[in-house]
Amino acid sequence: MEYRRLGKSGLLVSELSYGSWLTFGKQIDEALAKDCMYAAYEGGVNFFDNAEAYAEGRSEEVMGKILRNAGWSRDTLVISSKVFWGGDKPNQKGLSRKHVFEACHAALKRLHVDYLDLFFCHRPDLTTPVEETVRVMHDLIQQGKILYWGTSEWSAQEIMEAYAVARQYHLTPPTMEQPQYNMLQRAKVEGEYYKLYDVIGLGTTIWSPLASGLLTGKYNEGIPEDSRANSHDDIPWLRDIFEGEKAQPKLEKVRKLSRMANEIGISMPHLALAWCLKNPHVSTAITGASRVEQVKSNLKAIEHKDKLTVEVMEKIEDILQNKPKIPLY
Ligand SMILES: NC(=O)c1ccc[n+]([C@@H]2O[C@H](COP(=O)([O-])OP(=O)(O)OC[C@H]3O[C@@H](n4cnc5c(N)ncnc54)[C@H](OP(=O)(O)O)[C@@H]3O)[C@@H](O)[C@H]2O)c1
Repeated sequence: MEYRRLGKSGLLVSELSYGSWLTFGKQIDEALAKDCMYAAYEGGVNFFDNAEAYAEGRSEEVMGKILRNAGWSRDTLVISSKVFWGGDKPNQKGLSRKHVFEACHAALKRLHVDYLDLFFCHRPDLTTPVEETVRVMHDLIQQGKILYWGTSEWSAQEIMEAYAVARQYHLTPPTMEQPQYNMLQRAKVEGEYYKLYDVIGLGTTIWSPLASGLLTGKYNEGIPEDSRANSHDDIPWLRDIFEGEKAQPKLEKVRKLSRMANEIGISMPHLALAWCLKNPHVSTAITGASRVEQVKSNLKAIEHKDKLTVEVMEKIEDILQNKPKIPLY
């Protein structure tokens, strides 16, 4: 396992990490969640991702129980939470000082930790002044409740606003952003954020490196019975990732990529994960997995990074045809 710096910070995160969205407290039981986390930790993963919204807090409770019983040394772990969707009542969502403060304390309790290494604003809150959010994140750092704060799915402009406000008032600026990034979703990480890596030293903890499983190739011939697409009737938009008109051009690309992966002697999930890791602006790719075998297999992707030579990367580009253009002016 390679450990990469989270942007310009001194924190080292495993290049592949493990997150609990849709799985912990939901799709898989506690025993399986524990086995998956152990497989990840024993495979060198040090960063585990969570959020107050995941299974309405149950995901953090499950992870917290595992962490409490595992006895892993705290300094071998990087634990995150995210704040935004805490409930339906006023002040249970968004990025007000009150909700950020309360969400942090609730996450600490659920996760059984004294501090969070990373705390993300899960989405931008257009109704709260950015200074209020930056200030409460800074205060939580001062109080030792969190070590680094960041954003998720914010625009480059919103991240720059938070950075500028922090600099203006001598507060702690955001360290990292959590965007979706994979072979089929490249606009933010390769395009919009282009300047932020140098200008503010932004790190990225990218999500859905396998596009929820689409990039494993297992949806190439239809939806498998025991897959994510079939496991969440409560999320109507989820199936659109895997079937229907919008999914077809993506599936066509994945079929071509699967043939290419076969030609160079690696699996489609390994190709997709190794491709993400070729981007030096990716600090860590957060994988999801509903089985221990998936965790173990996905970690092997790091062994195949060298197979993605310049020539192979060009062939991939020919198939994808979606490289974002960097605006020159
Ligand atoms: N900040 C945000 O807004 C945001 C949003 C989404 C996710 N995230 C974070 O990113 C993490 C990863 O996202 P993700 O779960 O969508 O990641 P992903 O790696 O793109 O997809 C994971 C899913 O793909 C399937 N899969 C994984 N490995 C496989 C393999 N080797 N073979 C076949 N199927 C495989 C599994 O689903 P099945 O077995 O059920 O089919 C698994 O649960 C989340 O847990 C969360 O921490 C953040």
